[in-house]
Amino acid sequence: MSDEISLEDLPGVGPSTAEKLKDAGFDNLMAIAVASPSQLSESADIGEASAIKIINAARKEADVGAFETGDVLLEKRKEINKLTTGSKNLDELLGGGVETQAITELFGEFGSGKTQIGLQLAVNCQLPVEDGGLNAHTIILDTENTFRPERIAQMARGIDMEPTDVLKTIHVARAYNSNHQMLLMDKVNEVAKQFPIKLLIVDSLMAHFRAEYLGRGMLADRQQKLNKHLHDLLRFADIHNAAIVVTNQVHAKPDAFFGDPNRPTGGHVLAHTATFRIYLRKSKAGKRICRLIDSPNLPDGEAVITVMEDGIRD
Ligand code: GTP
Ligand code: MG
Repeated sequence: MSDEISLEDLPGVGPSTAEKLKDAGFDNLMAIAVASPSQLSESADIGEASAIKIINAARKEADVGAFETGDVLLEKRKEINKLTTGSKNLDELLGGGVETQAITELFGEFGSGKTQIGLQLAVNCQLPVEDGGLNAHTIILDTENTFRPERIAQMARGIDMEPTDVLKTIHVARAYNSNHQMLLMDKVNEVAKQFPIKLLIVDSLMAHFRAEYLGRGMLADRQQKLNKHLHDLLRFADIHNAAIVVTNQVHAKPDAFFGDPNRPTGGHVLAHTATFRIYLRKSKAGKRICRLIDSPNLPDGEAVITVMEDGIRD
């Protein structure tokens, strides 16, 4: 995609239209190129004819570099690293650990261990590659104010590391609402220029989106924003060979008479973008059952982990 062209270089787009487009999430040529004329005309208060002109111009500019040949993709996939979760069982379920260049989603009820696994991954990320780490720093976008440095310290001691050394490798930002969460991706890119970031955690991905976009009427709008956010995350994963880990809640599907009625939130947009989805359920004592769902190249299956004082273990 050519980044030198700004929105205002598109026909009929002045500063105020550009502003409206950006507010609606159409802040790059690709987003505009794949928009529908009605979406665009609604978001920017322009006629459909103008919208079509803008979209066509964006398509001309944005299609550069859309294709990569298979050999390039194969080379890129060779660079994929795997980050240990602290549990051999869960690592095995994931084919060796949490992968870079992919989004791994942890979903489950409150207290099912999503945040705990995220924190453990952040602690493990700074480990050398031969010890299952990525030899790099972590960024956490904390939307629920559940980051606890004390818990990181405990987990660091659990792998015989100095807590302050580990804490120095974890960069945390609070996100106050969904727009802020999306805007923080710019800051994430800034931080990644100063530090080697190989793990980006969004805990929770969906909480703000769910709370702010209520009812069916707002769903399309929510999904469009979510789609953009996820693609920003994927792009980061791609550029930095980084692992993306997002947490997500569940909602009960009312028409499920049999089996487990819980479904992850986020709809098709998230279902299609997350590469690995893990469903966490509480079991006895500190045990949690992790189920891998819909992975592109791994068999579905389950692993049992334990949340301990030291962190995540078998
Ligand atoms: P929500 O964010 O509320 O949706 O839940 P979550 O899935 O993020 O849950 P979280 O990862 O915070 O898990 C909380 C659970 O982890 C607690 O109920 C405890 O069972 C366990 N846990 C948290 N801290 C500790 C600890 O220091 N020691 C031990 N042994 N267990 C802990
Ligand atoms: Mg949590």
